[in-house]
Amino acid sequence: MSSDIAQAGLSNGIAVPRHVAVIMDGNGRWAKKRLLNRVMGHEKGADTVRAIVRTCRELGISVLTLYAFSTENWQRPATEVNALMGLLKRFLNSEEAELKDKNIRLGVIGQRHRLPAEVNAVIDRVQAATADNDGMLLNLALSYGGRTEITEMVRAIAVKAAAGELSPERIDEQTVADHLYTRGLPDPDLLIRTSGEMRISNFLLWQLAYTELYVTPTLWPDFTPEEFVRILNDFSQRDRRFGGVDPPNQT
Ligand code: FPP
Repeated sequence: MSSDIAQAGLSNGIAVPRHVAVIMDGNGRWAKKRLLNRVMGHEKGADTVRAIVRTCRELGISVLTLYAFSTENWQRPATEVNALMGLLKRFLNSEEAELKDKNIRLGVIGQRHRLPAEVNAVIDRVQAATADNDGMLLNLALSYGGRTEITEMVRAIAVKAAAGELSPERIDEQTVADHLYTRGLPDPDLLIRTSGEMRISNFLLWQLAYTELYVTPTLWPDFTPEEFVRILNDFSQRDRRFGGVDPPNQT
């Protein structure tokens, strides 16, 4: 999708979300429907990732967080896990030049220490090469689990409290946010989940508190920039009240 098409599909004058998060689901079903190996679904899914990253950049979205591998995904057969890690490595190697060219910074949230050393090495290299980019953040959730993130946050705060660096009475929502993987980032405005499942699946449990949800039956490998733009148009019609009333001063 070219820049012009992306812009043309967007209704006039609508504000794009600052942060979009995506649960990229349905790669396995996409492959099964075609009697292909599940890994082929992931390969096709990586092409969708490429297209959606480009579209987000063209539309001026600041942060795109993609759920690429969950803490639970380690339980999959070793062949599938290895294929996903290999795919990730190839994806980062092949996208490095475009990320640099398009002023996109690479971020990673999750348990980096559980990833294979060669994946971490590529991540380190691409992160170093894109560290100064400020056009967009491509944030990959890798070996990510919301409950693990919250547990690590509690531990980090407890360690500081025990050391006398932080007084328990002063712990507030900002303290919590500052000790999550996503510290410094705005919460997602919009969460898209593909393949029709109506669940959060341990993704960004704290950060999604007021996020608008959109579930599409489309399987991730079939998801297109055109559908993405349609979802943004739908999002722009939502009435976000954050628990308040609209308009704010209404009695
Ligand atoms: C869920 O589909 C998808 C994943 C567990 C992996 C997501 C990975 C990609 C989209 C490709 C690689 C990522 C990057 C960033 C290059 P599923 O396998 O659970 O599908 P199913 O529910 O239909 O079985």
